[in-house]
Amino acid sequence: MQESVEKLLKSLSLEEKCALLSGADAWSTKAPGDIPQINMSDGPHGVRKARVMMDAADPATCFPTLAALACTWDKSRAEDIGRAIGSEAASMDVDVILAPGVNIKRSPLGGRNFEYFSEDPYLAGQMAARYVDGVQSQGVGASVKHFALNSQETRRMSISADVDERALREIYLPAFETVIREASPWTVMCAYNRLNGVFCSENYRLLTQILREEWGFDGLVVSDWGAVVDRVEGVKAGLDLEMPGPADENTLILINAVRDGRLSEKDMDACAGRVVALALKCAGAPEARPPRNHHMTARRCAAEGMVLAKNDGGLLPLIPAQRVALIGPFGMEPVIGGGGSSTVTPTKVDVPLEEMRVYDPPVFYAKGFRTDGTPDDALFNEALATAAKADVVVVMAGLSFEAQTEGADRDNLSLPAVQNRLVDALCDAHKNVVVIVTAGAPVELPWANKPKAILIAYPAGQSMGGAIADVLYGIKEPSGRLAETWPVRLEDTPCHLEFPGGADAVRYGEGVFVGYRWYDGRKLAPLFPFGHGLSYTTFQFTDINSVQNGNDITIDLKVTNTGSRTGRPVVQVYVAPQGTAYVPRPLQELKGFEKLRLSAGETAHMTFSLDARSFSYYDVNKTEWVAEPGTYEVRLGTSSRSFFYKQKFTIPGTVRRQFTVHSPLSDLLPTQVGDKLRMMLGEAGVDISIPIVASTPLRALPMFSNGRMKPADCDEIIRLANSG
Ligand code: GLC
Repeated sequence: MQESVEKLLKSLSLEEKCALLSGADAWSTKAPGDIPQINMSDGPHGVRKARVMMDAADPATCFPTLAALACTWDKSRAEDIGRAIGSEAASMDVDVILAPGVNIKRSPLGGRNFEYFSEDPYLAGQMAARYVDGVQSQGVGASVKHFALNSQETRRMSISADVDERALREIYLPAFETVIREASPWTVMCAYNRLNGVFCSENYRLLTQILREEWGFDGLVVSDWGAVVDRVEGVKAGLDLEMPGPADENTLILINAVRDGRLSEKDMDACAGRVVALALKCAGAPEARPPRNHHMTARRCAAEGMVLAKNDGGLLPLIPAQRVALIGPFGMEPVIGGGGSSTVTPTKVDVPLEEMRVYDPPVFYAKGFRTDGTPDDALFNEALATAAKADVVVVMAGLSFEAQTEGADRDNLSLPAVQNRLVDALCDAHKNVVVIVTAGAPVELPWANKPKAILIAYPAGQSMGGAIADVLYGIKEPSGRLAETWPVRLEDTPCHLEFPGGADAVRYGEGVFVGYRWYDGRKLAPLFPFGHGLSYTTFQFTDINSVQNGNDITIDLKVTNTGSRTGRPVVQVYVAPQGTAYVPRPLQELKGFEKLRLSAGETAHMTFSLDARSFSYYDVNKTEWVAEPGTYEVRLGTSSRSFFYKQKFTIPGTVRRQFTVHSPLSDLLPTQVGDKLRMMLGEAGVDISIPIVASTPLRALPMFSNGRMKPADCDEIIRLANSG
């Protein structure tokens, strides 16, 4: 391949090479000479093949949003969806799908959160890597985006995301790192925003030092559409392709920059070479197979991503003979996705009411409220009257399509008042109410204690109406678990005081304490915690055994479905540092998960492996991940707040703490040099029970002991303390 690239590059003039660094139009690259054209399309929820930027796209399967896919916690499902989208892309002559988005959900107000996986980088990275595997298995490239810190829509094309190094490394980059290292995406899309003042589209540290030199990425970096600011700086930073094209002005700028020496031809060739390499890779992909219909693939995923948040008295699943009232306009027109570049033109759309009537003829319907939030008493009263005829009331509440879109963040977490009023009234009037909340991000549910059942359904594609019927009637189990915390109120959220920031910058002041890391640390009770989700059946977790070998810990267990119907348990593994840490750390972090399918009575094995990275934090001084020696509690559970196993392990770690003359006595006394130090202090008449003494650095002991301790004694203490 490299020879062909070099040969083709040599065939190009400087002008042609510079022109190659921007697209030919909104969706494809230039194709000078024998260089093939690359065709790109959005998006994460299905192929959005449009003629121009925001044109209506050709029909394609509209899959569950990535937010809904994340709630499946099912890596194989993520690969299935990626494979299905990749196969449809190939059949539509698309070489690169501009997906997945893996930006972390810093605030539930984020307008594109429906397009992203999680508040947790481990879950996001694992699901995204499998999704990329699926797409690329079809000979279609993926484009992991938006690199990096595009966690809000407000002023997204100019704002600077100002973040400290640990939060950058531990929260906002790991999902990208996992995808790069485990799935080798053909492309990475750089974000619009600035990172600590420098636009991502010209951020050498991000695009070259971290992405290529540290993580070994060897694919192409494409700009987000319109993200290029200074094209020369972009080439220097490692931004290969500017989209959309043709960007003729920038081509001229590049030509002049090379001619006057501001830009080396070597840098130019590096970028042009990667465009050519990708073009050859795409051209070399196997012939597309005829597209299959993926409506049922999407429907299975949609059901498995639905989260049964509450089910008092086992109200769900419904029994077909029950008289059911379906209330709400979403029962006729479900919100299957969000606005912006991920909007897919579906091949068909399942209507919840129609799909429910397949299982249960006596389903009454009332619109109940207007999706624009305009009060309408006639609709309100009709809904109450309809509910009065039913054994069970199913209300579909949630966010309208317009309320969740690229380009705009929400400014509150409220549902429209007309919806809250109706849910309240229905719950006051009826004892069997199920509320289905369809939203691309958390909303406040002030009435959450009232209905017997709450089912959370993120926008889940064209077949979510059928999936809702499947779940309501128990054909499918709602095996989703929340991939983000649902807070009681906006004011509880981690970045509430600093989202979406000011005119020029947004400070990520909460640092690493994002999502459940915040609620855990603040001991805030969320409405529904990260990882939460109920089942229609029950599970037992037994025979839990662990084996430790230094920093490596393996845990085996058995999971049994103790209920009477098929179920899909999700076991989550969290690591919780015990005792003092070199740096402030979250109380616990997700470091493993697996999902099973178990028939009634079936038992299966699970194995989890933890290694040094599972216990590590990012040391900004050493500029590497380090595992501090000490004790950690490993927890296995069914959510971030519900555990069936806790076990403490002491690991050797990967670093030894280095003590210096500035180390306080309180750091040294617990170490193997503690006894000798106590003896020396005693002989020197230093009373370590005095708090001010314990916090005294070693270097001050000669002063504190009136000269009885010498600097040489302190040096000996440090030598011994660091010798372990
Ligand atoms: C958009 C989005 C990006 C998308 C691209 C092409 O502005 O930020 O996710 O892939 O443009 O539509």
